Amino acid sequence: MSPLWGGRFTGATDPNMARFNTSLPFDWRLWEADIAGSLAWARAICGAGLLTLEERDQITAGLEALRAEIAAQPAAFAGAIDEDIHSFIERRLTESIGPVAGKLHTGRSRNDQVATDVRLWLREAGAQLDGALGALIAAAAERAAAEIDVLMPGYTHVQPAQPVRWSHWLLSHAWAWQRDRARLADLLARADVMPLGAGALAGCPFPIDRIALAAGLGFASASPNSMDAVSDRDFVAEFLFWGALLATHLSRWAEDLIQWSSREYGFVELADAYSTGSSLMPQKKNPDALELLRGKAGRLQGHLAGLLATLKALPSTYDKDLQEDKEPLFDTSDTLTLALPITQGVLETLTIHPERMRAALGDELLATDLADALVRAGVPFRESHHLVGRAVRRAEELGCRLRDLPLVDLQAISPRFTAEMAGVWDFERSVEQRQASGGTARAAVEAQIAALTAASKDQG
Ligand code: ARG
Repeated sequence: MSPLWGGRFTGATDPNMARFNTSLPFDWRLWEADIAGSLAWARAICGAGLLTLEERDQITAGLEALRAEIAAQPAAFAGAIDEDIHSFIERRLTESIGPVAGKLHTGRSRNDQVATDVRLWLREAGAQLDGALGALIAAAAERAAAEIDVLMPGYTHVQPAQPVRWSHWLLSHAWAWQRDRARLADLLARADVMPLGAGALAGCPFPIDRIALAAGLGFASASPNSMDAVSDRDFVAEFLFWGALLATHLSRWAEDLIQWSSREYGFVELADAYSTGSSLMPQKKNPDALELLRGKAGRLQGHLAGLLATLKALPSTYDKDLQEDKEPLFDTSDTLTLALPITQGVLETLTIHPERMRAALGDELLATDLADALVRAGVPFRESHHLVGRAVRRAEELGCRLRDLPLVDLQAISPRFTAEMAGVWDFERSVEQRQASGGTARAAVEAQIAALTAASKDQG
């Protein structure tokens, strides 16, 4: 097969070089975007007087037929050895409509073509991912509403710290996902610029109407500088960062649940649908879905680091190195396209054991509440913190729970301790103290649920 650039060459391409060079094995996915771009380009160059109406219609009909053919037969690319998707489409168009196909590439380069295709592709992929992320957030809000009564220990440094609502924990992750959703909308808006008409690098020598071309392809604007247009892969890097951060968020969510599904905690149990067994130990039920979610973060971080390394110090404008943007891009999208519904599935089918969570609520988690009771009685917090610390130590010495420490012992530490302070030994009361917005009191959690539910209904 002769490449698009055969004219100046006499020697054949080394077969290994052909395999090294081809991007068709992965960029075939750009086929629909490529045809959409070509249909718009045919209109644009016809408008500039470079195609007759009849030629334009021939090219349009040929591209539409090709689109239907590929859609009906997804394996159309199998075995094709074209250099890339752009060459594939052009060859097939030529085979079907003859030499007039050769007019389509007038004023266009694969450099502006590929940059356009990838942006068009990302627009679709981004919309799908946004939908999946919105659904995950809605599922988290729904579960948080249903299980708002469940209390559990909240941890810092993996040490039991203060009681919180289980819902509050769940929503803490949903807020991170919500920011991811906002970041996606943000980067997609920045990617909404059309490079077509930039040519190889210097711009288009024919009087095409780029405003109309951009509008026809649904872009918000046309790129303002042709050299930048063919160089710029910021939008890919931003998407990879977005994916890496989202995967990092998912990994933190997964890690909490992995720990809590261990027998030592026993707070949660994964549904069979998302677990696997051991080939050796019959009793094992492993949280593989969660471990894979945790593991995928490393993979997506690698994609970001890899692309940034490719872009670093790359001479302007187009260099073939830029072909390396696609595999990490597609893999990030594919990975999250599976990871998001898996996350939602795990979340929706997880069994929780509120009694185990409750049992893990030790009195020490209320030590801050006792210090706060002293504060309400007028003791400066630094001093009350110290006094309660001594009470904790005394209870340890006596081998009793903090709440069972006799009043005489408390008052030996400080006369500011009173019998009424026994009211703090109530986990429900403790969480209800946290009424300030963003806290774990019922009303504050309900406000979060309402806000996230409303946000999840927005179109990204
Ligand atoms: N497959 C190429 C890529 O992905 C398309 C652009 C090729 N341009 C060129 N000047 N060789 O980057």
